Amino acid sequence: MDAAGLSDFIVVANRLPVDLVATEDGGREWKRSPGGLVTALEPMLRGRDGAWVGWPGIADADVEPLEQDGLLLHPVRLSATEVAEYYEGFSNATLWPLYHDVVAPPVFHRTWWHTYVKINKRFAEAAAKVAAPGATVWVQDYQLQLVPAELRALRPDLKIGFFLHIPFPPTELFMQMPWRAEIVRGLLGADLVGFHTSGGVRNFRWLASRLAGDHVRGTTASTGSRPGEVDYDGRVVKVGAFPISIDSAALDRLARTQAVRARADEIRAELGNPKHVILGVDRLDYTKGINLRLLAFHELLMDGRVDASDTVMVQLATPSRERVEHYQQMRDEIELSVGRINGEFAKVGHPVVHYLHQSLPRDELAAFFVAADVMLVTPLRDGMNLVAKEYVACKYDLSGVLVLSEFAGAAGELTSALLVNPHDLDGVKNRLASALNLPEEEGRRRMRALRRQVLTHDVDRWARSFLAALGRPA
Ligand code: ADP
Ligand code: G6P
Repeated sequence: MDAAGLSDFIVVANRLPVDLVATEDGGREWKRSPGGLVTALEPMLRGRDGAWVGWPGIADADVEPLEQDGLLLHPVRLSATEVAEYYEGFSNATLWPLYHDVVAPPVFHRTWWHTYVKINKRFAEAAAKVAAPGATVWVQDYQLQLVPAELRALRPDLKIGFFLHIPFPPTELFMQMPWRAEIVRGLLGADLVGFHTSGGVRNFRWLASRLAGDHVRGTTASTGSRPGEVDYDGRVVKVGAFPISIDSAALDRLARTQAVRARADEIRAELGNPKHVILGVDRLDYTKGINLRLLAFHELLMDGRVDASDTVMVQLATPSRERVEHYQQMRDEIELSVGRINGEFAKVGHPVVHYLHQSLPRDELAAFFVAADVMLVTPLRDGMNLVAKEYVACKYDLSGVLVLSEFAGAAGELTSALLVNPHDLDGVKNRLASALNLPEEEGRRRMRALRRQVLTHDVDRWARSFLAALGRPA
């Protein structure tokens, strides 16, 4: 921060890294925000003395800028209607399903779009107000795709990066979007647009030349880790793939602590010391394939290929987007499945599926990762999936088997996992059965290779390579 209170490095994201939540006594307190974006960016920004512009997580909250552990937070206010139309509506009932392969039907509403435009302008204005001359502003994710162009119009002196944390969809799907040209032009306001995978880069380059029309003079493809370029409106916009990661070393250290190891033993004991512990950890989202993994487990029990007396499944699910209809439906379906499996296979005091609709503290989560023999990560589509990397980072003793969907961005890097097509139920059943019976030596070999990847490709490396491509020394 300079003498005028302006910042040189700013992250702009829909949410602040902390959420303001109501307490039982009628007060309010700050809690860590849900989701992978915050998991990745918070350690990155704390190490860089930055500022963060975002929504404090509840409607109509007037919150003054504040400092938390060296991080400057600039809250953006949203009214209840704006939360309903911009966040729950356009962001999470239009963009989210459209960008995740339409696994649920996207809803297109003009009023939601108008509010999305209005709120993107508000975020751009908030960032413009706190940025020092020539500062770097890094805009995050699908909720803010118009911010790069809005911010450039207000502050042409800034260096603007944009990173999409979710998949960028195939061009045929993106073309459904009524406001497709506006979104592409919004993103092209950045100096660098980043995606997780080279598929996203290709889709975006094609759409830029198709939809930004006369303003695009030419594009060059990215090669290896070098971003491609789009000549747009007399500027060069770089477009590249930057697979995000986690603070792997910190999680590895946490998992090795005496407290976490003891808690992992305790968890196993609380589960009845079964032979096999299968774990799922997700935000409760229909893209995560939670129900299909329950179905696979249920069928294996019914087929007699898994024994309920020596195997338990634990599903931890952070509450998410609870006012959006698709999420309500999916929660009901999952809870019905859990009830069915336990109804048929549990014994009194010994459920076969343990389901917690709760967000757990980091050290408790690490203990679950340490305790689990098999980790099931089965999204139908996922930008990256940090849970898969977190599990690997916690398995310092090379135990544990990761079953991972081919449709998670992480599958591109974690090739030594047991990969699975989540649409193929028999395939998921077979993969889960082989994970439970994997020879120890093969398991260790796979985990060693996974750990090499995750520990060397951490979130700091991700941020450095993005910022270097943006032209800012990291
Ligand atoms: P997404 O960003 O879609 O939620 P990711 O897998 O990339 O998916 O990131 C999810 C993050 O949320 C991870 O850091 C994970 O540890 C955390 N998380 C998921 N479920 C829980 C839970 N029940 N309690 C605490 N943290 C959770
Ligand atoms: C994913 C998205 C993030 C989002 C997070 C939690 O990680 O990419 O942008 O913040 O989910 O979702 P929520 O709607 O609660 O912010």
